[in-house]
Amino acid sequence: MHIHKYEKWWLIFGTTTLISFLIIIGVSAFHAGAHPNNSKWTIDYEKVDEISPFDNPGVHKVEGKDWEYEVVLVASAFSYNPPEIKIPVGSKVRFIATTKDVIHGFEVAGTNINMMLEPGYVSELVTTVDKVGEFTIVCNEYCGVGHAMMYSTLKVVE
Ligand code: CUA
Repeated sequence: MHIHKYEKWWLIFGTTTLISFLIIIGVSAFHAGAHPNNSKWTIDYEKVDEISPFDNPGVHKVEGKDWEYEVVLVASAFSYNPPEIKIPVGSKVRFIATTKDVIHGFEVAGTNINMMLEPGYVSELVTTVDKVGEFTIVCNEYCGVGHAMMYSTLKVVE
């Protein structure tokens, strides 16, 4: 079969584009599947309680950082530690979270705070809490029989 030089060039160009496209898709799919969106580093999930900062869960005021509060959070079936989070309105907050057992979610209803917590990974998110109120924190990943009972509260106060 005779292929015109010009057509052949387009064929090569088309094939190259298609291959690059498939590689990009493949690579991004791999990355998305490899660890949760907000994950920055890994952790031995069986030793979470001994590893800083998770040896001290809670709300901590910090100095000299880009944010004023750090919320260190440990999820496990079927609760969060700390069980309640209280932060003054207008604060810039860094949430640092992980799980001690299975995959859990950390979603603060009515805000942009939403993280997936996967065993072996630390997830984090920096945000400013700018609305006063009580927000329900829910686990949005199915984690077992107690899943529906897994929630806590974020209190943003004046
Ligand atoms: Cu934890 Cu669902």
